[in-house]
Amino acid sequence: MILPANFLIEIVYLIATALFVFSLMWLSAPTTARRGVLAGEIGMALAIGGTLFERGIIDYQWVAVALVLGAIIGVPLGMVHMTAVPQRTALSHAFGACCVTLVGTAEYYLHRSSVPKFTMSVLSLEVILGGLTFTGSLMAAGKLQELKFIPQRPVTYKGQNLVNLAMLAVAVGIAVTLVLNPAHTTLFLVMVGISLLFGIMLIIPIGGADMPTVISLLNSYAGLSAAAMGFVLNSKLLIVAGALDGSSGLILSVIMSKAMNRSFSNVLFGAFGQVQAAAPGAVEAKTVRSATAEEAAGILAAANKVVIVPGYGMAVAQAQHKVRELFDALTKRGVDVRFGIHPVAGRMPGHMNVLLAEADIPYDRLLEMDDINSDLPQTDVALIIGANDVTNPAARTDTSSPIYGMPILDVDKARTVMVIKRSMNPGFAGIDNPLYYLDKTLMLFGDAKGFVGDIVRELTGGAHH
Ligand code: TAP
Repeated sequence: MILPANFLIEIVYLIATALFVFSLMWLSAPTTARRGVLAGEIGMALAIGGTLFERGIIDYQWVAVALVLGAIIGVPLGMVHMTAVPQRTALSHAFGACCVTLVGTAEYYLHRSSVPKFTMSVLSLEVILGGLTFTGSLMAAGKLQELKFIPQRPVTYKGQNLVNLAMLAVAVGIAVTLVLNPAHTTLFLVMVGISLLFGIMLIIPIGGADMPTVISLLNSYAGLSAAAMGFVLNSKLLIVAGALDGSSGLILSVIMSKAMNRSFSNVLFGAFGQVQAAAPGAVEAKTVRSATAEEAAGILAAANKVVIVPGYGMAVAQAQHKVRELFDALTKRGVDVRFGIHPVAGRMPGHMNVLLAEADIPYDRLLEMDDINSDLPQTDVALIIGANDVTNPAARTDTSSPIYGMPILDVDKARTVMVIKRSMNPGFAGIDNPLYYLDKTLMLFGDAKGFVGDIVRELTGGAHH
């Protein structure tokens, strides 16, 4: 029995769809995450392979040229440094959204005089979302990369939200007109133009530091526009993949906003970076105690239970491998070492998990905030490596603090607190941390990688001198 080619392609698409669903499921736990990545890759390969067998393709030459071009751009993009992953991700969304907008525009020009009403509505949705995601993601990537010509600080003006709303309303108005009369080519182009401009206007009032949350939201828009494209092209695979992307992006942005104790609308319209700038450095001459690597090593070696809290500074310093050495040295001495992971430690979701996994720290030693907090009062030493805001007790007590209400790791309840950072400078939220002035706190001033290395040397008997 010979199966028709169409049927085979549908089967391949079905398998790809299932793999995407499993991929997302597996990605949600560190132990199965690698399998999740593999499932996603195979799913995508099947989806591309299936598409190449579609009868619609007349000429493979251009496809080959596009594949080579894509690889030339994609391979180096995949090799950027960990800390540059947020802006790299934003660029991927920009490319995806650009593609969606172009496909939508091409479809429109192919059938413009006779686009059915339903197709024209999803097509409009596709290019509006695609257009704003394209320029919005480019802006977000630029802010994260700290490009000079893109302001980091939120740019605001009076009536900004109103202007943005009006632009969106005009775009939607044009979409409705096009549904009724699809032959209006000029209107279609105006709609695309407004969407592109809207993407820029949407991002300028948002501070560079809020970009990770925004990127996750743009991810969601890119997914929704792809789903709309699925309706236009009559592809179930695109509809499902786009919907998965759209909903997971939205869920992730909500999780991130929650962990930062900010409402979603506050991230989008609150111009948070300005609070940061205005926060007064109200630090009177309070005193802190500092210690050397030798003293820190002595305290750690004498402890029974140690909880290490990594943060953005560990990522910047790329200290994860030294942290692994510290973990080994202490474990060898019989110290119980675990890691407390805050959901928004670092600058992107899962930042700490990825770095610690890279250094092969056993997954069962990594505990989420809610699981480790009840153990912290029984912990001898909380060792904080380049984390700041996620340990700030002001979030629990100081109602005037911009991070008041944000759930934190209760490191101040441990018997001794040690903090590795380079200075008394604040972290992301731009605020002072009362933790540093407690009697039980020792500041270990230095670069995370260098300082942890020094502690390891002390613990292993100076073998590397
Ligand atoms: P932060 O509060 O930003 O603090 C990081 C600390 O690391 C800084 O105070 C800095 O102090 C120190 N540091 C920087 N480079 C270092 C180095 N080379 N060696 C040692 N220390 C170094 O980080 P966190 O505690 O991880 O909190 C994350 C923050 O980012 C939260 O406010 C969160 O809301 C926000 N945020 C997170 C995300 C996600 S999804 N993770 C997304 C957006 C925003 P020195 O300058 O004194 O060294």
